[in-house]
Amino acid sequence: MTDKTFYITTPIYYVNDKPHIGHAYTTILGDVLARCHRLHGHKVHYLTGTDEHGQKVQRAAEKDGMTPQQKADTTVVRFQELWKKLEITHDDFIRTTEPRHTKVVQAILQDLFNRGEIYKAEYDGLYDVTSETFITEKDLPEGKTPEDLPNIVRIKEANYFFRMSAYQDWLVTYIEDNPSFIQPDFRRNETLGFLRKPLQDLCISRPKSRLAWGIELPFDKDYVCYVWFDALVNYISAVGYGSDENAFRQRWPVDYHLIGKDILTTHTVYWPTMLKAINVPMPKTVFAHGWWLFGDAKMSKSLGNVVDPMALADQYGVDAFRYFVMAEMAPGQDSNFSEAAFIRRYNSDLANDLGNLLSRLVQMINKYFDGKLPAGPGALAEGTPERLLWNDVEKAAKGLAASLETLRLDQGIYGVIEMVKSVNRYLEIKQPWTQAKQDDKGPLGVTLYCAVEALRVAAWLLTPVMPGKMADVLDILGASALPRQGTEPALFGQLPAGTPMGAIKPLFPRIEADKPAATPDVKPQVAASPGPPKPAAEGLIEIADFAKVQLRTAKIIAAERVPGADKLLKLSILVGEERRQLVAGIALHYTPEDVIGKTVIVVANLKPAKIRGVDSQGMLLAASKGEKLTLVTVDEEISSGAQVK
Ligand code: MSP
Repeated sequence: MTDKTFYITTPIYYVNDKPHIGHAYTTILGDVLARCHRLHGHKVHYLTGTDEHGQKVQRAAEKDGMTPQQKADTTVVRFQELWKKLEITHDDFIRTTEPRHTKVVQAILQDLFNRGEIYKAEYDGLYDVTSETFITEKDLPEGKTPEDLPNIVRIKEANYFFRMSAYQDWLVTYIEDNPSFIQPDFRRNETLGFLRKPLQDLCISRPKSRLAWGIELPFDKDYVCYVWFDALVNYISAVGYGSDENAFRQRWPVDYHLIGKDILTTHTVYWPTMLKAINVPMPKTVFAHGWWLFGDAKMSKSLGNVVDPMALADQYGVDAFRYFVMAEMAPGQDSNFSEAAFIRRYNSDLANDLGNLLSRLVQMINKYFDGKLPAGPGALAEGTPERLLWNDVEKAAKGLAASLETLRLDQGIYGVIEMVKSVNRYLEIKQPWTQAKQDDKGPLGVTLYCAVEALRVAAWLLTPVMPGKMADVLDILGASALPRQGTEPALFGQLPAGTPMGAIKPLFPRIEADKPAATPDVKPQVAASPGPPKPAAEGLIEIADFAKVQLRTAKIIAAERVPGADKLLKLSILVGEERRQLVAGIALHYTPEDVIGKTVIVVANLKPAKIRGVDSQGMLLAASKGEKLTLVTVDEEISSGAQVK
């Protein structure tokens, strides 16, 4: 038997509505992961698809005057078109209305019923019509009775139940013994917390009289299968379970079920107990990422704050969109989407760092070497700027590979952009524009060769994130035909001297910040809106109160991002002679490079605090309105430590 295939899945998305940035995010994450593993030479199977049964789809169809199947057939196209647009390289797309899936669900139901794992019982209790779940009094919002809530009804009906409760102890032990099963770690604790309460059996049927749109129970034609029991099975029905045991053995157990945190319980409680009951090994990892928020609220159609990925990709380009969502979200945490943050990141990472480097290098090679790559140094001697540069290249390559293990691709990508900045610094040190004035063009050639090699590796590393644009970079550098797989592409000296450079095209033209907002249906509610000014007296302070605040000028001498905190920069500042560390929530608006050297105003007598575990002595002043934020600086140069009155 050959090596096991690396198998990745996304949730299958409901077809009641069009896709938004949340769906796009999970699918791009899976795609980047799939492409990275393919680059490492692994055989990959990447599955996505649509969840087409259940109340949500039935209702949406009724609203649009269609049959549920017609509704599914119409909406599925939107997902398929979006994945095509976003260059998603899934190997399979499963729809739960396909016979290859429904047959497997029915076979599993029949088997469990035959073995007494599914039984019939009378249910008398509360039912939440919105989420289609059976609930208890405990689940009601505090102080509310069922009569207060229109979506809660009392129902009495016979149904079929899966003996999920029987697996509770086994599941707790399994989760505790297998830390990689639920990732990130704190999500594992959430599931374990959920499992501290007694687990109920799972109602897996709905009477057709109430909901007709589902897979019929093979042992009772008056019922359909509960949509979640049906949907989860897609992960095995799509890869040969019950039809092609060889194919199944190659792919299962799945390496990653990628999901959003909203569906953690179904994937880490229902699904493992279902698999256990049918004697199928557990998934290796269920990885739950956070939500994309908009204006601090979860995106939803009813709030009207949905971000349309198609529109963003149309306006800014597919690769820029893929890059932004991957670089911006630390997958354990929630991320706030804003177009301002998008533009800032695009301009700083893509237009300035990457795009400019490429055009500078190619222009110089065109000018001084007639468009042909000059000869490099051969080997990298210890201690030379070239060796130091290549250390950064190796660090970025290793960092990206390591980020695949933890799914912190944001960190891996950050490392590559840092490496691109190192190339820019290397050029500052070597001063090729000065070297060009010497008669001997050898040293200039070495500088340009090494910078091109580093850029080549950066483009290769970022190919899974930005397949189109990075292919263009490799093409322009004459590197398209070089090996793409394994670790060889990250070795120094792959490009032969004399390689002709291609024509430069503007890869990432700068976006002017005041362009109109592209996508969200509405602007977010700004959380801490100051509101209208207060009437006199109320809210006014005495001059003595203001005098308590010591404002000083300070010079920023170093800055770096705080790992895992997208909004924070850690700054070293000089207040007069005194050096201090300060954490500022400005990273969505300023890169570390933007702020170094600036003279800003700080509150110098603020009690020290720890922000995300980092010590902060003081606070800096910034003006903000809506999504714009700008640092308060001084009009003319003045030494640091000066009083601001
Ligand atoms: N059909 C179920 C999943 C069944 S899987 C066997 C479902 N579908 S869904 O259309 O609601 O998609 C849910 C998934 O979309 C989330 O788990 C997440 O992967 C993604 N996202 C939807 N909204 C999101 C955000 N606002 N932010 C990030 N991702 C979210 O649930």
